[in-house]
Amino acid sequence: MSDAAAVHRVIAHYAGEGLLLPRTEAEIREHIARFLVLVEKRGKEEKVLGCVALEPYGAGLAEIRSLAVAPDARGQGRNVGDRLMKAAMDTARRRKIARLFAVTHRPEFFSRYGFAPGPRQIVPEKIERDCATCPKEHKCNLIATVAVVCPERELLPVLSGAGKAL
Ligand SMILES: CC(C)(COP(=O)(O)OP(=O)(O)OC[C@H]1O[C@@H](n2cnc3c(N)ncnc32)[C@H](O)[C@@H]1OP(=O)(O)O)[C@@H](O)C(=O)NCCC(=O)NCCS
Repeated sequence: MSDAAAVHRVIAHYAGEGLLLPRTEAEIREHIARFLVLVEKRGKEEKVLGCVALEPYGAGLAEIRSLAVAPDARGQGRNVGDRLMKAAMDTARRRKIARLFAVTHRPEFFSRYGFAPGPRQIVPEKIERDCATCPKEHKCNLIATVAVVCPERELLPVLSGAGKAL
């Protein structure tokens, strides 16, 4: 919770550039448990280097949201974006979340981590939750991109369906 104000500043910076959806500090505080934050200790101080949120969509699906590296932590070989992505994917695997998706202007960044781009219709859950009420609904140029991170969970519904048929 003590990082919430700094997380808000990082997200607000990129929201101002139109790269991220804005989020209020109150919303970040409310959902702080969904955030992973990379911090650097500077004596007694902590500096937020970047953040990412894992937003749940039921048991088998989560969205990677608000992925951002603090502007002054970029381009220094600290691999902040890479470490955040790997931490988010490891967390999803530990939580046995079958699929992750992101809606992004950087699909090529996500493809490094096994995400495949497609039309937004590949994540109807997202369209229902956010897109339907978004003012940019019909002029949105963001790309949906999806990865299976826990293949054994992805198979479960198929297997349980097959079980019923037998
Ligand atoms: C998307 C993002 C998290 C990716 O993380 P990343 O580690 O920077 O990965 P990139 O492929 O963009 O960059 C690779 C390297 O080039 C550097 N770089 C790329 N664009 C840069 C820029 N405009 N200014 C400074 N450095 C830049 C990165 O800092 C990184 O080097 P580092 O590991 O030494 O920091 C990050 O670029 C970011 O915070 N972007 C702004 C917010 C955003 O667009 N988020 C949306 C993703 S859905």
